[in-house]
Amino acid sequence: MQIRQMTDHTGAEVTGIDLSRPVDAATKAALNRAFVEHHVLAIRDQRLEPRQVLGAVELFGPVFHQHNTKFALPDCPQIHYLSNQDKFPDGKRYIPGEGWHTDHSNDARPPKATALHAVTLPSTGGDTQFANMAAAYAALSPAMRARIDGLVAIHVYQSSHSARKLMSLSDAAKERVPNAVLHPIARTHPESGAKSIYINPIRIEGILGLDHKEALPLLHELLEHATEERFQYRHVWKPGDLVLWDNRCLLHKANGDYDMNETRYLYRVMLQGDVPR
Ligand code: SIN
Repeated sequence: MQIRQMTDHTGAEVTGIDLSRPVDAATKAALNRAFVEHHVLAIRDQRLEPRQVLGAVELFGPVFHQHNTKFALPDCPQIHYLSNQDKFPDGKRYIPGEGWHTDHSNDARPPKATALHAVTLPSTGGDTQFANMAAAYAALSPAMRARIDGLVAIHVYQSSHSARKLMSLSDAAKERVPNAVLHPIARTHPESGAKSIYINPIRIEGILGLDHKEALPLLHELLEHATEERFQYRHVWKPGDLVLWDNRCLLHKANGDYDMNETRYLYRVMLQGDVPR
């Protein structure tokens, strides 16, 4: 197995491994170390059926059960799919993951990681962008760090301030999904110890103790800073890619910039995380 760093802060390409076969303990440990060190692993040249995706991703931890079960595969419900061919009930096309976000931060223990396995890709475009929130935190002014340390954000399923709308939850899912949870705006990575900005434009409804006039411009300023190009890694998909990223220290977004007559279809699974601190 070879691991090649792709930028000086985020992303590594992994080659020379077939995750449809059993993996020994040393390789599993090396993959987990690389995940914490590089935050995004692009494991190339995999050809995995849904159950094999599950086996591969479980090398990094137990599965997190998604809030919205609408996209679960009938034969392997822990795996969901992403497709540009889905529509909202009003007929508008639904591009999952457009706009900067971190996954399921409206959970008390949000997923530590998300993995996608490319099944069908458009001939061009449809990249996934990642922004490194630890690098962005480290580059904040001391005054801004002091301002956000100790602030707590209110996360909900769908923020009323977000231009991007999510697919609605079923009534059964609404029963399971918390109404609101609180997470620090600056969190510490439980494995690396690095501090990161932890914001999410589609999920944050407000900041505890601040009125919207103060909270919304602050969140906007943090997002503008954190998503500057210098903190980004842009993943250009290749057939067979299995990409796993760390939601604890990254924002990510999909790009709907390709011909919608072409299909973009990927398997998706998330891994259980801790309470952000
Ligand atoms: C996601 O946000 O989970 C999807 C990202 C992508 O489709 O590139």
